[in-house]
Parts: sequence; C-alpha cells; structure tokens
Amino acid sequence: MEETEYSEVSVERQEEFWEQPFQGYQVLNILGRGKSGSVLLARDTRFERDVVIKTMAPVGDDLEGAVERFFYDARQVARLKHENLVRGYDVGRTPKYFYFVTEYIRGESLQGRLEGLQQGKIRELESLKYVMQVADALQFIHEQGLMHRDVKPSNILIDNKGVVKLADFGMAKDLTFLSAEDAALANCEIASPEVASADPIIDIRSDLYSLGCCWFRMLLGRYPFTGESAAVVLRKHISDDPEMPHEVDSRITPATGQLIMWLLNKDRERRPRTPQQFVSKLMTHPLVKLEQQQHDLMEADEAEEKNEDDDDALDDDEFVIYTGPGSKHQPQE
Ligand SMILES: Nc1ncnc2c1ncn2[C@@H]1O[C@H](COP(=O)(O)OP(=O)(O)OP(=O)(O)O)[C@@H](O)[C@H]1O
Ligand SMILES: [Mg+2]
Repeated sequence: MEETEYSEVSVERQEEFWEQPFQGYQVLNILGRGKSGSVLLARDTRFERDVVIKTMAPVGDDLEGAVERFFYDARQVARLKHENLVRGYDVGRTPKYFYFVTEYIRGESLQGRLEGLQQGKIRELESLKYVMQVADALQFIHEQGLMHRDVKPSNILIDNKGVVKLADFGMAKDLTFLSAEDAALANCEIASPEVASADPIIDIRSDLYSLGCCWFRMLLGRYPFTGESAAVVLRKHISDDPEMPHEVDSRITPATGQLIMWLLNKDRERRPRTPQQFVSKLMTHPLVKLEQQQHDLMEADEAEEKNEDDDDALDDDEFVIYTGPGSKHQPQE
C-alpha cells in the first residue's frame, strides 16, 4: 500500500475515528487522506467483510442540496457492477461527516506502484494491461451515460492479482464545492484542454485524455505537461503540444506512442469517440497481439495436457467399468 500522509490528518480527527462514529462499521486503520477527506479501512460488522470508508467533511452553503445529490449519486453508483470498478456499497452521514463505503482493494494504487520504482515508470507491456482495463471500466461507465472525471494514478488501484479497479467513481465532487476551475487546478496534471479552459460541457473523451496523461506518466516517469504552478500546467494542456513518447524514449513502440497521442489530442473530436473505439485499436497493438498469441498457445497446451489426463482417466474408468467377457465386473441383474 502506498505511503500515506498521516501528517495531514490532525490528531484530533484521527481520534474521532477511533470513537467509531460509523454505525455498523468498526474502523481498523487509516489508509490515507485525499483532498476531500480521509480513507479508512473498516470492518462491516453486518456482512463481516473489510471495506473502505471515505469521509467527506461537509462544507459550503447549499449543504442540503449537495447531500441530496450525494445520496442520489451514491444510489446510482451502488447499482453498478464491473470487474474493473471499485464497488460502491453504502453511504451515510454522521453529525460530522458524509461517508461513502466501498469495496476494499487489497493491493496498491498505480501512484504507489510508480512511486515505489526507482525511475517512477513501468514496462510497456505492464502499462498496456492497466490501460486496457481502465478503458474497459470507462466504456462501462460511458454506457451508463456517465463519466468518471478523476482518472489519475491514485484512483487506479491494482489488486493482488493484477486486476485494475478504478476508484472514486461517483464520489460526490459537489460536496467539496470545488468550482470547475478549482477542480482543474487540483488535478492539473490530468486536466483535458476542455477541463483546463472550464468548458461547461465535458464528456467521456475528457476521461480518455486523462488516461493518456496517466499512460504517458507510466512510461516516462512524468506527466506530459509540468510547470512551476498549476495555472502554467493548465495553460500547457490548452496550447502546448505534448512530446511524442516514442521519440523521448526509443524503447517505447511507435504503436504505443501513437495511441497516447490519439488520447492526448487537444481537439476532442480527434480523440477516440468512445473507450470502446480505443480498446478496439489497442487490440491490434503488436505487443497485445503477441501477448494474446502466447496466451492462446498456453491455453492450447493446457487443454492438450488436460485431454491427455482425461484420456488417462478414461482408460482407468474404462478398466473399472468394463463388464464385457473376461471381466471380473459383471453387470448386476
Ligand atoms: N477502495 C480502496 N481500497 C484500498 N485502498 C484505497 C481505496 N480507496 C482509496 N485507497 C487508498 O487511499 C489512498 C487515498 O485515496 P483518496 O481517494 O482519498 O485520495 P487521492 O485519490 O489521492 O485523492 P482524491 O481525494 O483527489 O481522490 C489511495 O491512493 C489508495 O492508496
Ligand atoms: Mg482517490
């Protein structure tokens, strides 16, 4: 698990969590703290399972409106089930917090994984596996007529089997009362040009742009645009051309470089229309095809071995059930 910044959680607030304010849940540990609240590991005492509780301290003027939207969003999210999405279980409020209860993912975040590596980057094939799974989750979200809005390495969780689980989907952004501009500033590294310019209409193609930024980061150890302030970074998203990943590092295949550039197009009309369109293209990537062939070969080998085993088993069975002439196993009358 990624190193957490306990320092940001005041002692007083941590103590409050140990007073067990969440009915039906026993707080076991503090996993970390994001921009909007704390992330707690807890035991769901009714279902006897470990869960994550994400707290959000209520702030702002239109609190009741925000609460309504929070519960509405939570109900929507709790209906959704996908292999690559962290499941939403429950929501609630205490006098001090709103909270969202989700599946607990045993593993690490992509952010943690990258930070744990010396150069802060991973191999291309590994990145392809993650990108493919995030895109699958985004396609599912898109099919519900929704978008994620926060595709970044700390929200890309990787479980112990290497399965990606996209987190923080539907986390009521309203409750933090961040304006569109503030939200873009807070996540400037992955902000699409339309988010950076506070376009009121954004769609799934903005998530695809953020995925492009994450992929760039996975392979090069840095985001496509950096700068001395968030405002500078946002401006670059709007007006600077990103470097071609395969030109920065010649070990990266042009196929990957071009896919990243497709995602990072300034003009959303020139990005993939849907995550599915992107996934279809990803399936034609030489490394993905090679991996698929190896996988098919392995499966064929396993199937052959299994057939041989079955044949052997059949021989044994035939020996046991053989009741013909000369057999000591005669049919019962
Ligand atoms: N469902 C989960 N299972 C396991 N660990 C989680 C889960 N959700 C979050 N975490 C861990 O807690 C850390 C903090 O999460 P959190 O979402 O609060 O912060 P963030 O993603 O860095 O920022 P933001 O508040 O902007 O989303 C994550 O990076 C991850 O390591
Ligand atoms: Mg998060």
